Amino acid sequence: MLKFAQPQLDEDTIQAVAAVLRSNWIATGPNVTELERALSESFGARPTRVLTSATGAMEIALQVCGIGAGDEVITSAQTFFSAMNMIVKVGATPVFVDCDLHTRAIDLAQVEAAITPRTRAIMPTHFPGALGDLDALYALAKRHQLRVIEDAALVQGSYWKDLPVGGFGDIAVFSFHPNKNMTTIEGGAIVVASEDEAKLVDLLRFHGIKRLPDDTRDVAIAAGKFNMSDVSAVIGVHQLKQLPRFLAQRATLVERYFEKFPPVPGVVLPPQGVPRQSWNMFNVLIPYEQFGLTRQSFRAALQAQGVGTGMSYEACHLTTVGRGYGYTDGQFPNGERIARETVTLPLHAAMTLDDVDHVCAVVAQVLKR
Ligand SMILES: Cc1ncc(COP(=O)(O)O)c(C=O)c1O
Repeated sequence: MLKFAQPQLDEDTIQAVAAVLRSNWIATGPNVTELERALSESFGARPTRVLTSATGAMEIALQVCGIGAGDEVITSAQTFFSAMNMIVKVGATPVFVDCDLHTRAIDLAQVEAAITPRTRAIMPTHFPGALGDLDALYALAKRHQLRVIEDAALVQGSYWKDLPVGGFGDIAVFSFHPNKNMTTIEGGAIVVASEDEAKLVDLLRFHGIKRLPDDTRDVAIAAGKFNMSDVSAVIGVHQLKQLPRFLAQRATLVERYFEKFPPVPGVVLPPQGVPRQSWNMFNVLIPYEQFGLTRQSFRAALQAQGVGTGMSYEACHLTTVGRGYGYTDGQFPNGERIARETVTLPLHAAMTLDDVDHVCAVVAQVLKR
């Protein structure tokens, strides 16, 4: 069975985990410090903290920006649920806009049109294969004095011009879930705009605790708990060293997908040929009805032949939470079409070119039936 996503953990990593477990220092410790140092280096020395997930990082990002009740945050209707959920969780209102059909990048004209006096931030999601126009995004944010919280969960290792995502801009969050470009089991990172903001993250990720000169503790902010364990962090340290190899293998596999994917009418493939993009997923849009299929039957047919698939993503504005803000079907045609037609084909660093050939052959066969 070929899984659509899978982590790659080598023997060195497993030994390193065992060493941390034997050390008895298994909660936040020296490996967290080392992972933060190494990640920060990869993001042009910007202030970086690791956390228990990208979702937690988004909640903290919104809190760092002082966003709460009465505020609006503009985000894409077509992304994972975390942005919407965390905007709601901090007491703000999610304002949805559509995205580009091919890059899935947030539609900046619609962002501009959605800005009100209550708008405080834009939360775009970056997708594999191509970023949106980040110069235009940041120019727009600057014109309207808005914060930007980039959901970079899927694009660790992607570049905008000469700079890595996370290596410039305002706030970026990354995910180290096992399906992502590197993993810490569960985990995430936040890159913030200043050292003062990083200090605020330190409070927000650990009970709001501040140490006083007499060694007692004050609670400066009523905060939650999002600190990463050293067991997870040591996995991250080892994964980060292997990330270039993982990304190179993913890029090679994607090249093969573009070469071998059957020429099916109506199919939309991901953006091809943009330099220095990382490839977390290979998402394809398929007009299932044209082939007498539904997405469910298509996925089941692939599954029956040993090909696992994923689905990224449903449309946020059409979830129960989204509809609760008055959104309805038909408002965001691109995001909704992606939600209806998207399927995520297997892509991870442990795959071979033969695996891609097999997936493409199975897809061709299923669509021919
Ligand atoms: C685009 C996107 N953002 C955020 C997340 C949330 O990441 P985490 O599981 O680390 O909270 C995911 C996870 O799938 C994602 O795909």
